[in-house]
Amino acid sequence: MNPSDRLVDTERGIVSREIFVNDGIFAEELEKLFARAWLFVGHESQIANPGDFFTSRMGGESVILVRDKQRQIHVFLNTCRHRGMKVCRYDEGNTPLFSCPYHNWSYATDGKLVGVPQHKDLYPDLDRSQWSLVEVPRMVNYKGTIWASWDPNAPEFTDYLGSGKDHLDQVLDCRDGREGGSEVFGGVHKWIIPANWKFAAENFCGDTYHNPSHRSVDLIGIGPSARSGDSGRRDNEYKGGQHVWVSHAAGHGTHSVWMPPAQDYVDSFQNDKIVSEYFRHCFHERKRRLGEKARLLPLTGTIFPNTSYHGRQPRNLCVWHPVSATQTEIWRFFLVDADAPAAVKDMLRRYYMRYSGPAGMTEQDDMENWNYATAASSGTIARRYPYNYQQSLGRVQRDAPVPGTVSVQVTEESARGFYASWQRFLDSADWETLIGRQPVRAAAE
Ligand code: FES
Ligand SMILES: [Fe+2]
Repeated sequence: MNPSDRLVDTERGIVSREIFVNDGIFAEELEKLFARAWLFVGHESQIANPGDFFTSRMGGESVILVRDKQRQIHVFLNTCRHRGMKVCRYDEGNTPLFSCPYHNWSYATDGKLVGVPQHKDLYPDLDRSQWSLVEVPRMVNYKGTIWASWDPNAPEFTDYLGSGKDHLDQVLDCRDGREGGSEVFGGVHKWIIPANWKFAAENFCGDTYHNPSHRSVDLIGIGPSARSGDSGRRDNEYKGGQHVWVSHAAGHGTHSVWMPPAQDYVDSFQNDKIVSEYFRHCFHERKRRLGEKARLLPLTGTIFPNTSYHGRQPRNLCVWHPVSATQTEIWRFFLVDADAPAAVKDMLRRYYMRYSGPAGMTEQDDMENWNYATAASSGTIARRYPYNYQQSLGRVQRDAPVPGTVSVQVTEESARGFYASWQRFLDSADWETLIGRQPVRAAAE
C-alpha cells in the first residue's frame, strides 16, 4: 500500500497521526510536495546590492538567494557540482564569487563556473558551461518577496495563490495602501523545535480555537502600544470587525477581519506623537486608496505548504522548514514599510521581539503545544488514534464578503482544506487539480 493512502479523510474530519510522525511519509513529502510547490525563499531587501546573498532553504535543502552583477536575482542549490560541498557556508553577506572550500572550484554570482584550479592540465576538455550551479527553474519576485519552485510546470504564482492573493497583498503592501514597499528589518529569527512542520502551518491557517493557550499574554497587554488593560496582544485595530476564516483552493488558509465601512481610526499611541501621526495617516490614506478593499485586515494565514504570516500585529512571514518528521526549523522574517519613520520602526522592533521568536511571549505558548503534541503522538499506541478535525464541519458561509470557502464562525475548515491539498500533492495530482479549478471539498472525495 502506498503509505499516504487513506491518511486524510476531510469529509469525515479525520486525519491520521502517522502524517505527523512517520519518517517514510516525511520522505514522501520532500519528494512530492516540497519539490513542486511554490516556496518562500527570502525578500529582495535582504539582497539590495550586486553580490549580496542570503542563504535560505527549500524543503530539506540549502539554497542561495543572490543578486548578480547585472542586479538579476537568482536562487541556486547550495552544492558544488564537483563533489557536492556547500559552496556557501555563511548566513548572508556580499561576495564576487562563491568559492568552494573543498577543491576551490569558483562560481560567479550568476551561477557560472568561472574557476577550476589547474584546469589546463587536469581538465583540458571541461565544458564549464555545463557545470554551473543548479538554478531553480521557476522564481518570482512578488511585491518584494522571492518565491521559487523546482517544478518547471508549476502554474503562475498568482494562480497558485488564487483567492488567497488579496489577503497576502494586505500583508505585503504598505500600511498606507501603496503596493509593495516593505522591507525585512532586524535579523531573521531562526530556531529548531521538536515538532512536525504541519502543526505550525495548520495553526496559522486560522486556529482561533487555541486562544486559551495565550491567556497569559492577553492579560498583560503586550500589544504594539504596550498598554495594560484592553490592549491584549494586538491593541484595538480589529475591534468590531467580522472575522472570516477562508480556505483557498491550493490549500492556503487565511484568517482575516472584515471591518465595518464606517470604522474610524483608534489611536493607541497618544504618548508618542510621531508614531500616532504615522498610523493615523496610514489609516486614512489606505482607506482613500483601497476603498472597499481597505475593510480587509489580515490576521494570520498560511500559503501552502509552509509559509505563514502575521498580517499586521505583528507583521511578518514565517517559514516552517521541514527537518525530519518530528523536527522543524523555524525562520521568522519581520516586515516594515521601508520608508516608515525611525521611531515607528523602533517601536515595531520592540513589539515584534515581545511577541515572536523563541523568546517571544506568544510564540512560546504555541511551541509548547506543537512540541508536546508531537511527542505524545509518536508512541506505538498513540499513533493508532487519528486526530479530530470535525469543528464546524459543513458550516460554510454562502454570501461572504470575500471569495474562497468562507466561514464566519470558528472553524477547522481551512485545516481540512490544507490536508486535502496535502493529500492531492502526495497523490501526485496534476496542477489543474492542485490549484483547484474545483472546490476543495469536492476534490477531497
Ligand atoms: S567539491 Fe567543490 S571543488 Fe571539489
Ligand atoms: Fe497561537
